[in-house]
Amino acid sequence: MAQKELLSHIDTQRIPKHVAIIMDGNGRWAKKQGFLRIFGHRQGVDTVRNVVETAAELGVKYLTLYAFSTENWNRPRTEVNALMQLLVDSIKKETPRLMQNGIRMETIGNMEQLPAGCNQTLRETVEATKDNDRMTLILALSYSGRWDIIEAVRKIAARVQSGNLEPENIGEEDLNAALNTAKYPNPDLLIRTSGEQRISNFLLWEIAYSEIHFTQVLWPDFSTEDFYKAIIDYQSRERRFGKTGEQIRQVI
Ligand code: IPE
Ligand code: IPE
Ligand code: MG
Repeated sequence: MAQKELLSHIDTQRIPKHVAIIMDGNGRWAKKQGFLRIFGHRQGVDTVRNVVETAAELGVKYLTLYAFSTENWNRPRTEVNALMQLLVDSIKKETPRLMQNGIRMETIGNMEQLPAGCNQTLRETVEATKDNDRMTLILALSYSGRWDIIEAVRKIAARVQSGNLEPENIGEEDLNAALNTAKYPNPDLLIRTSGEQRISNFLLWEIAYSEIHFTQVLWPDFSTEDFYKAIIDYQSRERRFGKTGEQIRQVI
């Protein structure tokens, strides 16, 4: 289906507020055409730009992109270095466009593990874009769901130790508030490209009730049409949150 026709199938009143994406398949995309893996990552940056702008145009308010996981540090040194360089170059290059498009950029993850220069560039863009309010782009870098949960548990344990919190009073809200994602609503829609059907330590706590869309498309090939298809798929689901379908459809 053509882009325009797909767009006409999207209900603009039911756009997911928060979309999270596991951007996977850059390496396979490159290998398929006989290139080094890093070319796939480079091509993936173009996809990021397009998806960010498409999401903002549709009215998505939060877009979280899994760009580098805790486990990705275990890749060959050359790939890790190339990815960090690509990150710095891309952020620098794209900042004016984020400004033009009213997009605020923030990060989640263990930023201290990133090279100092990388961290500095990210901080500058976060600062420069902080007053933009059309959409918030959240980059997950050196991030994993388990890492964040452990960090949160440490914060809660410290509150208990200092006598400010009773263990029996610990609730969901305490964990929500202690996570890197405290400021954001939970993702409504989680997309993973490249055909893998797993979470790979992404937002473990936050995706409890997210709708999940898997696509075979490799990240560098993920187009505006593919993003529209994910939204259409999301809008075809009935989100029940543990209730019955009758309860959800009933207007009480
Ligand atoms: C996703 O693409 C990008 C990162 C994890 C940084 P991959 O690099 O995982 O690509 P594949 O899965 O090997 O094809
Ligand atoms: C998940 O992709 C992490 C990111 C997209 C940043 P991976 O390629 O690292 O995941 P696995 O290893 O296939 O589970
Ligand atoms: Mg992968």
